[in-house]
Amino acid sequence: MMRVRVIHGPNLNLLGKRDPEVYGSHTLEQINAEIERLAGELDMEVQISQHNSEGEILDAIHACCDWAQCIVINPAAYTHYSIAICDAIKAVRLPAIEIHLSNIHAREEFRHRSVTAPVCVGQIAGFGVSSYLLGLYAARDIIAKRWR
Ligand code: DQA
Repeated sequence: MMRVRVIHGPNLNLLGKRDPEVYGSHTLEQINAEIERLAGELDMEVQISQHNSEGEILDAIHACCDWAQCIVINPAAYTHYSIAICDAIKAVRLPAIEIHLSNIHAREEFRHRSVTAPVCVGQIAGFGVSSYLLGLYAARDIIAKRWR
């Protein structure tokens, strides 16, 4: 079975209540249920967690070495400035996919820059919950075709 680690960054625990016009009305629990449903269909094991602090995200990325074959990560606001998360993704040498619910390129200018995207295989942004689901399909393809 393929093993994929899904990491949600800060403030995503507030989904459902937080700016629904930007992020949609799904709660994080509903998004995680969708991820788990698709993972089951794809015969994939997923581990999912959400963290508000940068250090916890770093620990979660480091721990991927022991288990995951691919990381699907929404670093949320840290996307735009966390060199530490960028370095952690690079350090673990696992393929990573950057996810955003909203289209960060169509929003405020400070959101256009991602310091984490360059160390990811690619970025999926703007499709709401489907961004995560597309991320799982991408992870499956990466593991199937590129995993050594
Ligand atoms: C986000 C976009 C970020 O700019 C923002 O800080 C978030 C969520 C998204 O999923 O659209 O918290 O990563």
